[in-house]
Amino acid sequence: MAFPEGFIQELKMRNDLAEVAAPYVTLKRRGRNLVGLCPFHGEKTPSFNVYTEDSHFYCFGCGAGGDVISFVMRIENLDYVDAVRFLAQRAGMDMPENGYDDSLSKLRKRIFEANREAARFYYRSLYQPVGREGLDYLHGRMLTDRTIRHFGLGFADDDWSSLTTHLKSLGFTEQELTAANLALPRRSGKGVYDRFTNRVMFPIIDLRGNVIAFGGRIMTDQKPKYLNTSDTPVFQKSANLFSLNNAKNAGTRTLLLCEGYMDVIAVNQAGFQNAVATLGTALTGEQAMLMKRYADEVVICYDADEAGQKATARAIPILRNAGLLVRVLTIPNGKDPDEFIRSQGADGPEAFRAVLERSGNDVDYRLQKLRSDYHLETPDGKVQFLEAAADLLAALTSSIEQDVYAARLCKEFEVDKTSFLAQVKKRSNSRRRDAYRKEQQKIRSDLSGRGDRVDKDKSKAPRSSSAEEALVVYLIRNPDAAQTIAGEVAPEQFQNALMRRYYAYFLQRIINGLEPMTNITADFTADEANKLYQMLGKHSGVAQTKQSLAEYIRVIREESVRLKADEAGGMTGEQLNDYLAKIRKVKN
Ligand code: CTP
Ligand code: MN
Repeated sequence: MAFPEGFIQELKMRNDLAEVAAPYVTLKRRGRNLVGLCPFHGEKTPSFNVYTEDSHFYCFGCGAGGDVISFVMRIENLDYVDAVRFLAQRAGMDMPENGYDDSLSKLRKRIFEANREAARFYYRSLYQPVGREGLDYLHGRMLTDRTIRHFGLGFADDDWSSLTTHLKSLGFTEQELTAANLALPRRSGKGVYDRFTNRVMFPIIDLRGNVIAFGGRIMTDQKPKYLNTSDTPVFQKSANLFSLNNAKNAGTRTLLLCEGYMDVIAVNQAGFQNAVATLGTALTGEQAMLMKRYADEVVICYDADEAGQKATARAIPILRNAGLLVRVLTIPNGKDPDEFIRSQGADGPEAFRAVLERSGNDVDYRLQKLRSDYHLETPDGKVQFLEAAADLLAALTSSIEQDVYAARLCKEFEVDKTSFLAQVKKRSNSRRRDAYRKEQQKIRSDLSGRGDRVDKDKSKAPRSSSAEEALVVYLIRNPDAAQTIAGEVAPEQFQNALMRRYYAYFLQRIINGLEPMTNITADFTADEANKLYQMLGKHSGVAQTKQSLAEYIRVIREESVRLKADEAGGMTGEQLNDYLAKIRKVKN
């Protein structure tokens, strides 16, 4: 059961999309629409559109689209019901009493509760005989009891069923425990067993204080060293950061990005609350956008080993793209932050502060790396280095930045600044042209539906698909015409399965007197809804006349009876006659 239509309609009316989006994205008017830099992916030229007339958004860069409810779902990481609740609160509306399907919302709540109880259980174990080994391990890594409590660290014992037994006694079902990824189903099909055993446990806590997942470290050098919660209805590892809940309250707009749990915790214990880490994956654009909400600057504190340096090189453009300033920490002797701090004993905190202060910005860092690739003592090596450096500076978007570094390099290498800068600008312009072309290409290919995951039929039947798309949009915009259109084209005449579903859906709603778009977010998958908003965005500003309507209908009918080569072969004489008769009817 869905929310009452009238409620959702009022909710949408009282929550203007542009206003709701304002805290997350700066929007400028362009024609009838608003545009801005997409809050869902990093970009330099705005492709995030808010269509004020029918109150939806679409990003031509990443393909995110939706109404005000799906905007809140995405940006606040909420499920449908909770996003509705969020907007109801914002508009001072009461939620309707029950009567709506909040099964997902309820499951999520149960998972949060199960996770919280699990975290308590793991923490308690640490201070019981069964957890001795875990506590010794953490103490051995120089963590104090205060730190252990602050992070809620814990211990999963070796019993394979102690957690599930405990949680079941608290009323959690096996289904809830597997949904939380705290338990796995037994191969026999009967019962479940603990997902984490014999590991020290790191709870991952979101910005609202919910325990959303765990990481568990084995205490020996067995593999895998870390085991993490798989993605669940409350957890997506690519969209969360360890300890952001602490870091956001650190009172600074700088974040320290570490590689792992132990680094974050060690850095915290040394007095720096603003550390975060990704969760066993490479940094994603989504995580960078998340950091951008709480920070202007990120210091990459990855391991000084080769893997760490590679990860640093990958992270720099992702962070920059999100509009963050970037610095890179260089830790002496190939250590990670945790090892470095420990190696300094009581001076750890001071020593770490000193390295932090010495950390250069990312451009310096990359120029420094580049130097080591060339033989600067030879004229050839110098030239090659300067060429590579010109490329590097060309990628910077700020021309002031380009100027500053060019000036420095030219002074050092005694070359003419004007000609070096001219090189930089030339490369910079051609990069920009390339990037622009690529973006346009992507938009065109998105719109043409090539490689469309949701709409698989489009590339198979492009002509009918375009007409069907246009007819669906026409129908949404002109609900008055629904009866007439329904008399002209039946859903079965659609070639494209997705369009056929949209068409039947909207016809039915309109004929039942309902506003077409109110319930999209609830009635379609996120991808399907996206596709719909993409279609609306594509036709926005394009007038659809009665004449064009007639044209869509003509094409759809024509295509619906077109003989497909593979079908022709198998036809009997009678079928062929039927077919020809059908064609004649359409032509008239
Ligand atoms: N990681 C993981 N799975 C592994 C290894 C690593 O998910 N098998 C993730 C963990 O989040 C870990 C991070 O990658 O914290 C960094 O890994 P690594 O550098 O190997 O570990 P450290 O943080 O140095 O951990 P420790 O100091 O405990 O060895
Ligand atoms: Mn380490």
